[in-house]
Amino acid sequence: MKLQGSGFGQLYVLCLAFAAVVVVKAEDPYRFFNWNITYGDISPLGFRQQGILINGQFPGPDIYSITNDNLVINVFNNLDEPFLLSWNGVQHRRNSYLDGVYGTTCPIPPGKNFTYNLQVKDQIGSFFYFPSLALHKAAGGFGGIRILSRPRIPVPFPDPDGDFTILIGDWFKYDHRILKAVLDGGHKLPSPDGILINGRGPGGASFTVEQGKTYRFRISNVGLQNSLNFGIQGHKMKLVEVEGTHTIQTIYESLDVHVGQSYSVLVTMDQPAQDFYIAVSSRFTDKILTSTATLHYSNSNKAVSGPIPVGPTEIDWSINQARSIRTNLTASGPRPNPQGSYHYGLINITRTVKLVSSAALLNGKQRYAVNSVSFVPADTPLKLADYFKIGGVFRVGSISDNPIGLYMYLDTSVMGADHRDFVEVVFENHEDILQSWHVDGYAFWVVGMNAGLWTPNSREEYNLRDAVSRSTTQVYPRSWTAIYMAHDNVGMWNVRSENWGRQYLGQQFYLRVYTPGNSTRDELPIPKNALLCGRAQGKNTSQLDSLFY
Ligand SMILES: *[C@@H]1O[C@H](CO)[C@@H](O)[C@H](O)[C@H]1NC(C)=O
Ligand SMILES: *[C@@H]1O[C@H](CO)[C@@H](O)[C@H](O)[C@H]1NC(C)=O
Ligand SMILES: *[C@@H]1O[C@H](CO)[C@@H](O)[C@H](O)[C@H]1NC(C)=O
Ligand SMILES: *[C@@H]1O[C@H](CO)[C@@H](O)[C@H](O)[C@H]1NC(C)=O
Ligand SMILES: *[C@@H]1O[C@H](CO)[C@@H](O)[C@H](O)[C@H]1NC(C)=O
Ligand SMILES: *[C@@H]1O[C@H](CO)[C@@H](O)[C@H](O)[C@H]1NC(C)=O
Repeated sequence: MKLQGSGFGQLYVLCLAFAAVVVVKAEDPYRFFNWNITYGDISPLGFRQQGILINGQFPGPDIYSITNDNLVINVFNNLDEPFLLSWNGVQHRRNSYLDGVYGTTCPIPPGKNFTYNLQVKDQIGSFFYFPSLALHKAAGGFGGIRILSRPRIPVPFPDPDGDFTILIGDWFKYDHRILKAVLDGGHKLPSPDGILINGRGPGGASFTVEQGKTYRFRISNVGLQNSLNFGIQGHKMKLVEVEGTHTIQTIYESLDVHVGQSYSVLVTMDQPAQDFYIAVSSRFTDKILTSTATLHYSNSNKAVSGPIPVGPTEIDWSINQARSIRTNLTASGPRPNPQGSYHYGLINITRTVKLVSSAALLNGKQRYAVNSVSFVPADTPLKLADYFKIGGVFRVGSISDNPIGLYMYLDTSVMGADHRDFVEVVFENHEDILQSWHVDGYAFWVVGMNAGLWTPNSREEYNLRDAVSRSTTQVYPRSWTAIYMAHDNVGMWNVRSENWGRQYLGQQFYLRVYTPGNSTRDELPIPKNALLCGRAQGKNTSQLDSLFY
């Protein structure tokens, strides 16, 4: 039995009709992971810090998978505080329970374990996982995720000779608990102290390659706030994939990677036999931080030398680069049919949402908001409150579709959405900093971005043909970015600033994509092993769902 696409739901229901107790997902392979989360000493900037390790590793292990694989990840929390992992860019089709953020999943208590049963349904590409609670992300616990195409599906470039994950991010000398205390005390985060490349400080990481061969580099910005420019001395990079979309294969000398974003490039080792700098430097901040790793030719006879390459620093250059990144319409994505067969530009918009973020002091404490609401967590994960119909946890409509011009206030903001909606979202940035926005459970088309305020006339400059579909987009200072998204994934999904301090202090909300039916075609039942907490503690998860298993 082949289970693909929209047929999945019908077949699922069909199996129920035959009272089959078998797990329908059995067709797709399973991969099992046992992860032990511990504290351990790391010294990426030359002095000792406490890091969050996974099976002793910092960064954590890469997840290798193929489209539709089931990933069974048993996470043992050996920290002394609650912990959760989330999966940046993994869509969890019909299953927001596993998203691993505060609003969907109860924290794994210290000393306990929880098994994520994820399916990387209908996805390809490069992503990463990270710890979502508190400021754990400032201590590690992140790693790469790669989802390869199924063997029969054509990939629009030859198999590379090697495939590297490169996790870049800003880094602080302070412990994550101190950073959290700074935010809890109502202050902004300090500036980062350095940049790490695969967990190593300047000059630490090294990638060995063979002359003449071509390698894929999957670059993700796993940091807390800085946009980073990435380049390799003397080498050109051919962009091939952005967060699950095969792109027009354009050559770049360097790439701006904003917080939460992932890019794949192909690099041919066509230079003399020596070592080269891989250079990463911060962007759009007062102080430029720079770090390097080494690209080591296996037959190298010369150490790295010469100036460290630094890509352009202008916003105009960056925005032009962003606009030049487009979808290869004839290439396949996760399915055999071309990526261009979904004509997003011909679909009628059913709703326009405009999100304006702000920063302010509230009772003397720093907070951040979207459309005037600064998000505060409730005592119970929102998805569980929804499932068990526990009242008083959140209110659908507690954030408006448009900026309302009010002073900032606190609320557990949840935006309602219908699963048939096709929505235009405009992010308008009135601040001088670069913003990066992420939507869990979705990829969206980045149809336009420009300086100034968005007006309905801005629609005339939208790319309605070959915009790239991704899950994290930047919004330049005093600029706007517009996206299109089909609300076709039912569940409770986090929409957040990827600037981690801002996210922590309220710049996020949840999108509740709803359908009145109870069909597993639209949403999978709550996992049998779901942890329960807050007012969902002691509830019975098997009552409604015993039917479905
Ligand atoms: C996890 O690591 C800790 C510290 O090394 C160890 O005490 C514990 O037994 C490990 N747990 C598992 C499940 O491997
Ligand atoms: C915890 O791990 C054990 C195996 O060591 C497993 O049987 C159990 O299902 C896990 N618990 C959860 C909630 O995933
Ligand atoms: C687009 O993908 C096709 C494969 O379908 C490939 O042959 C072609 O080179 C790609 N074009 C560009 C411009 O990347
Ligand atoms: C979009 O709307 C227009 C007019 O409002 C209508 O004529 C057209 O059929 C609609 N297209 C789709 C695909 O629904
Ligand atoms: C969904 O399930 C609930 C509880 O079993 C039931 O009360 C409700 O009528 C169902 N709704 C639909 C549309 O089937
Ligand atoms: C939960 O509900 C199931 C099905 O109705 C029932 O068999 C089971 O005994 C209940 N468990 C608890 C702990 O109440």
